[in-house]
Amino acid sequence: MRIYHLSAECYPVAKIGGLGDVVGALPKYQNKAGLSAAVVLPHYDRKFVREHQFDVVFRATNLFGGKRTEFEVWKEKADTLGFELYLIHIPGLLDRENIYSYPDETEQFIAYQLAFLDWINWSQQAPDIIHCHDHHSGLIPFMLAHSALYKRLANTRTVFTIHNGQYHGAFGWSKFAYLPEVDMTSTGLLDWSNGINPLASAVRCCSAYTTVSPSYMDELTWQSNGLEHLFQMERHRGVGIVNGIDTQVWNPETDPMIAANYSLKNIAEGKQKNKEALCKRFDLDTEKPLISFIGRLVDDKGADLLAEAIDRAIEQYPWEANFLVLGTGDPDTEQALDVLKLRQTQQYRVYIGYDEQLSHQIYAGSDFLLMPSRVEPCGLNQLYSLRYGTVPMVRSTGGLKDTVIDYGDEGGYGIRFDQASVRDIVYSVGRAISLYRDAAHMAQLRNRMMSLDFSWDRSAREYIHLYERLITNI
Ligand code: ADP
Ligand code: GLC
Repeated sequence: MRIYHLSAECYPVAKIGGLGDVVGALPKYQNKAGLSAAVVLPHYDRKFVREHQFDVVFRATNLFGGKRTEFEVWKEKADTLGFELYLIHIPGLLDRENIYSYPDETEQFIAYQLAFLDWINWSQQAPDIIHCHDHHSGLIPFMLAHSALYKRLANTRTVFTIHNGQYHGAFGWSKFAYLPEVDMTSTGLLDWSNGINPLASAVRCCSAYTTVSPSYMDELTWQSNGLEHLFQMERHRGVGIVNGIDTQVWNPETDPMIAANYSLKNIAEGKQKNKEALCKRFDLDTEKPLISFIGRLVDDKGADLLAEAIDRAIEQYPWEANFLVLGTGDPDTEQALDVLKLRQTQQYRVYIGYDEQLSHQIYAGSDFLLMPSRVEPCGLNQLYSLRYGTVPMVRSTGGLKDTVIDYGDEGGYGIRFDQASVRDIVYSVGRAISLYRDAAHMAQLRNRMMSLDFSWDRSAREYIHLYERLITNI
């Protein structure tokens, strides 16, 4: 079975968040299961691309936004990632460093999708599945079904996975002319609220859509930035599949980025060594429980609550716990977290920035990982934290609800709270402190967490079943 994954991110080529982790891992596990899965990204001028060799496997010209442009498809020579990696290179459009936020982002992603389709079509390929991730490739299901250009791909099925339903990639009808040879009777399938909405269109036109957890599938019906009605109507066609983690990259036994490797056999000793190294770097005392946060500093992650919650928790439980934050995002939140350093000089540290290695060290060296998310379609941080024996403290929402059981419940291992609020966070810090005092209980929970299996093997199989179902329905 031949599958193309289309995405704006793919670790280690280009990653901002969990989308990159998923697209960098799922195809690898699908290939291990006997499929032929490849990834197609826009071309970015980034470290991975500069340091690896590529062949140009296809070259053509096409009209992108009315301008005749030459484009190329590059393929990584050595297949170092466990799947074939292709880049769509379009001079002047897809040859830049950043992944998002250019003023002509709409043109960039439209050109990426059209160039991909032209390549597949003109090189006479007939993939079984085109698997699109988020709105950046959301126009493909519509184009395949409603443009005369792609008739020969009638048997190719499309799967659309929603990693974040808050962003739709919407743009005005003035850019409709960018889409070639569209059947004019079907243009309603592109429209939502008088604009072209790639996310809404993908949900309507794909063969099947998925979300990255079952709870998030339900949440979209009442919280999707204006698409609630669409998700209520299409709910019966959707499937929720919880993400897995890449256990080759995220493995405390072999992880080269952490201070000391450890496994189920020596958890206490391994965690202690990593905690000591992390506390040394940030000048924190190792005796206290270390509660950390890693993530994009945006309201969806509840990051705007952190400064006040940490401040209050330190006031309420003086000298009882330390806090460490790693993140980058909204300038106001960054500033609030930075300013807090002046008030809380002993028990709080913050690193504003993106640092992959430090994130591994924090998963390994912390006792608790805080995730007060307002919206969390799946969340990978809690899964990494479980793998590294660090207790996740999560707001009960989306994928966090589906993957973390409170330690007060049977078989539980985490801390859950209901509201994304300062009050609930501070209350949970109190629970974390009491739990930490009970060393035997902590040891039992660490053991339980590290014995859980959130590897991609299971979730990759669920996607394969879905593909098989779609293909046999031809
Ligand atoms: P999202 O995709 O919404 O950001 P996820 O929990 O799915 O959330 O994935 C976040 C990923 O990004 C994890 O791999 C996490 O470790 C990583 N990450 C987020 N912020 C940072 C940062 N500042 N430095 C390093 N890694 C980060
Ligand atoms: C999105 C979501 C996150 C999810 C990730 C990977 O960025 O915000 O919850 O884990 O995609 O699916």
